[in-house]
Amino acid sequence: MIPIKTLEKEHRIIDKFLDALERLAGRIRLYRQVDITILMKSLEFMKHFTDRCHYQKEEDIIFPEMQERGLSPNYGPLGVLIHEHEAERAYARQIEEGLKRWQDGESEAINDIINGLVNYVTVGREHLQKENNILYPMVKKIFSGKGNKKLQSDFNQFEQRKMGGSLCCKYHNLADDIDKSILN
Ligand SMILES: [Fe+2]
Ligand SMILES: [Fe+2]
Repeated sequence: MIPIKTLEKEHRIIDKFLDALERLAGRIRLYRQVDITILMKSLEFMKHFTDRCHYQKEEDIIFPEMQERGLSPNYGPLGVLIHEHEAERAYARQIEEGLKRWQDGESEAINDIINGLVNYVTVGREHLQKENNILYPMVKKIFSGKGNKKLQSDFNQFEQRKMGGSLCCKYHNLADDIDKSILN
């Protein structure tokens, strides 16, 4: 499998997770109740898979390659993608802080949780679309032949370094688990 397929597969998993998160936001809004277990699992997935495994892999390996080819990290397409990663981290923090306040008895904090979830899903979907349609086709052109071997080796080293030897794919099951929990 060429390495960009790893990133595309991660996108499909994140996309499925975003669909589940949208259903979760709808349920919380309807019942004015938070399922703490599912929300904690969702936060774990956002932090460890979407952010640590995926966004940081792009930031450590893919984005610097684009910068070397003249794209600015401050504006234009790359600047927007970096900004969206930061926005997603901020929404995840908003959801986590809202959950703590809600558990402490602040009932209005439920609105911060709902808004954080809705914004996380909206920006997340737009982000995946941009990368699928603009960034990844560029990456495919840049990395071919020997470039693919280097990219795969960079990905492997990244997982060793960031994940302490454990693998990002262990979170794939968590996405399925969350997806099934929110269907019921
Ligand atoms: Fe990204
Ligand atoms: Fe991505």
